[in-house]
Amino acid sequence: MRIAMIGTGYVGLVSGACFADFGHQVTCIDKDADKIDALNAGAMPIWEPGLQSLVQANAARGRLRFTTDLEGGVKGAEAVFIAVGTPARRGDGHADLTYVYAAVRELAPLIDRPPPVIVTKSTVPVGTGDRIVEILAEEGVAGAAVASNPEFLREGAAIRDFKIPDRIVVGAEDERARAVLREVYRPLFLNEAPLLFTSRRTAELIKYAANAFLAVKISFINEIADLCEAVGADVQDVARGIGLDNRIGAKFLHAGPGYGGSCFPKDTLALLQTADAAGVDQRIVRTVVEVNDRRKASMAARVTAAMGGSVAGKRVAVLGLAFKPNTDDMREAPSLPLIEGLLKSGAQVAAFDPVAVEQARPLMPDVEFAADAHAAAEGADALVIVTEWDEFRALDLDDLAAAMRGKVLVDLRNVYDRADAERAGLTYHGIGRGEANRARNVQAR
Ligand SMILES: NC(=O)c1ccc[n+]([C@@H]2O[C@H](COP(=O)([O-])OP(=O)(O)OC[C@H]3O[C@@H](n4cnc5c(N)ncnc54)[C@H](O)[C@@H]3O)[C@@H](O)[C@H]2O)c1
Repeated sequence: MRIAMIGTGYVGLVSGACFADFGHQVTCIDKDADKIDALNAGAMPIWEPGLQSLVQANAARGRLRFTTDLEGGVKGAEAVFIAVGTPARRGDGHADLTYVYAAVRELAPLIDRPPPVIVTKSTVPVGTGDRIVEILAEEGVAGAAVASNPEFLREGAAIRDFKIPDRIVVGAEDERARAVLREVYRPLFLNEAPLLFTSRRTAELIKYAANAFLAVKISFINEIADLCEAVGADVQDVARGIGLDNRIGAKFLHAGPGYGGSCFPKDTLALLQTADAAGVDQRIVRTVVEVNDRRKASMAARVTAAMGGSVAGKRVAVLGLAFKPNTDDMREAPSLPLIEGLLKSGAQVAAFDPVAVEQARPLMPDVEFAADAHAAAEGADALVIVTEWDEFRALDLDDLAAAMRGKVLVDLRNVYDRADAERAGLTYHGIGRGEANRARNVQAR
């Protein structure tokens, strides 16, 4: 099947490469000529495990092409996916649909007969598909089949998620759209990936409901972590103790510095906008947004407290900048408000991230970037683990402690245990690890 992908960002590129790997003929289109030139030269615009070899293999077999030419790119396509960005609109948090609608208007005059099925893969609010049908009609394209096929891949595990999805959601109003999308995803039926057909509006909402629910889970365990600290319990054990219950599930129960990334922050805000427009309050999601914003903003104070109440003139080593491991994505990363807060309070910050430094550098001009974890720790008063990259899971803490001036380890991802840190002579400050507080409380009594 011939597939066109409009927008060759994280989702468009991964989806396009995976569709090509299934055997489809895929053309990925983007307005960003530098990106397309780089892809045609075999360079990846994003850091994602396994992506380069997948792209190169499929490009070499002639199944995957990259172009800025929309007309040539969509010619003969049976399915045209729209995977452009839908960032939060400044001011109100509504999903900015400018890029989606612009792509539809550019596409309209190029539509062949029989017309392709137009599929939104971008995360778009309920009713966007309806509006696309109207725009196409305004542009003289009647009776277009428009479907919603939200994407659930996670950055850092994107290829695996795309190829072995928990489910594929397709929202469509007509049989032709369902038939085309069934054919697009047929190779995945071998893996028995459930294909869930719904109405278009339902599919659009499923994506927001899924992300909002995951954001709720993260914020829930973060608040439980605060309680653990106050009452002398350990959130790692609480998470395990509840996560083993199948009704709850163990995933997304890792206490930390708050969620970031390109999806949860903007999608929770956009869901609230949809709810406001519909006159239906979503108090849980509203609270989660507030809890998460506060949490991210409070991390600098947490580090400051661990360092004795002031960071002025002190040196802080930050390990991990990307919003999560295995990506160079810095969008809404918890490292940003943390570092900003520390710098404002007079700290010097030396940071290291295995892949995100290039993305981070322009966002934090006053930070010193180190070549590795050891170099960052050199002379530092405290070491703060912000992103749980694999290479930070087995650090030689003795070695780092010896290089540091102070002896404070703030572990915002609970990679280590108190005992690991103490063996190296470091004082440990994890998230929701309240055992030490309990010991203090018992002594005080
Ligand atoms: N990144 C993720 O993990 C993820 C996961 C699931 C869903 N999504 C959703 O997928 C959508 C895309 O996200 P992303 O992270 O891939 O965005 P991105 O910013 O990485 O990529 C978007 C691309 O679209 C291009 N573009 C914009 N308008 C265009 C046009 N008219 N014609 C051609 N190209 C155009 C841009 O140049 C850019 O390269 C968003 O709605 C997002 O919410 C993202």
